[in-house]
Amino acid sequence: MRGVAPGTAPGSPCGGPALITLVPLDEPALARLLDAAVAGADPLEVMPPVTGPPGWTAARRAAFLAFHRGRSLDPSTAVERTWVVDVDSAAVGAARLERHGDAVEAGLWLSRAARGRGVGREVTRLLLAEARTSDAARFIASTTPDNHGARSLLAGLGAVLTTEGDEVAAVLRLRP
Ligand SMILES: CC(C)(COP(=O)(O)OP(=O)(O)OC[C@H]1O[C@@H](n2cnc3c(N)ncnc32)[C@H](O)[C@@H]1OP(=O)(O)O)[C@@H](O)C(=O)NCCC(=O)NCCS
Repeated sequence: MRGVAPGTAPGSPCGGPALITLVPLDEPALARLLDAAVAGADPLEVMPPVTGPPGWTAARRAAFLAFHRGRSLDPSTAVERTWVVDVDSAAVGAARLERHGDAVEAGLWLSRAARGRGVGREVTRLLLAEARTSDAARFIASTTPDNHGARSLLAGLGAVLTTEGDEVAAVLRLRP
């Protein structure tokens, strides 16, 4: 899947539109994704908690790889499709779609340098287009009340947002 973000996304030093590509996860893409996560994201933003000292310890790097292999790459355990978000061929994050009954759940993280530049909006648009090719009835996502970027992205798509405690649930109907 391909799209463009306006302006100054990473890799577009002259300020032209950046080419955004969603690359299906495989082992080479997973290695690039780990590098992007280590370089520009906090472990808690991109994977479940792992006990131990803070930062990208060897245990957390191994857990990150195991997490994606289990959820996407190993056909016997896979529950979701994951893509590496490339901006002008450089990995900057991950996007995913997971089926839950009649709904498809979207998830996304970007490295710090790629945030706030329109990449998330374009990736979300690509995920929604992909979801529309399935027979799912609803596009759903969840975030936290303090995640203004994610809330703005989801509201901008036309999703209905409902806050309950520390969770914001977003729902967008895909068909009447
Ligand atoms: C949340 C995230 C995916 C948003 O992607 P992004 O590329 O930064 O967002 P965009 O630049 O496309 O901006 C989308 C909208 O959010 C707004 N926005 C982005 N960051 C924001 C922030 N920190 N505070 C307030 N609004 C913000 C933008 O203004 C824009 O709104 P607009 O179109 O109405 O002007 C990204 O910041 C991220 O990966 N964060 C860390 C991981 C995470 O929180 N993932 C989501 C978990 S549910």
